[in-house]
Amino acid sequence: MLKVFVDREKCIGCGMCSTICLEIFEMSPAGEVHVKEEYREEDTSKGEVPNKRVRVFDAEDSCPVDAIKVKTQKS
Ligand code: F3S
Repeated sequence: MLKVFVDREKCIGCGMCSTICLEIFEMSPAGEVHVKEEYREEDTSKGEVPNKRVRVFDAEDSCPVDAIKVKTQKS
């Protein structure tokens, strides 16, 4: 599994992550990025997704302020 974390202190709400990886990320009406409910843990900034969801790494790479972190975790 992959652990996903969005740093709200850094995020400027550009939306690139949700454009690149719409399966995992969505923008709220207030312009805040959320991990989609089906992958969410604890709160909207944290999630756990299957390893095969490789687009999440593209989203991590594309964030202009380096607000997304993805870590591999043994399941
Ligand atoms: Fe925020 Fe970066 Fe996504 S700025 S909306 S986490 S691409």
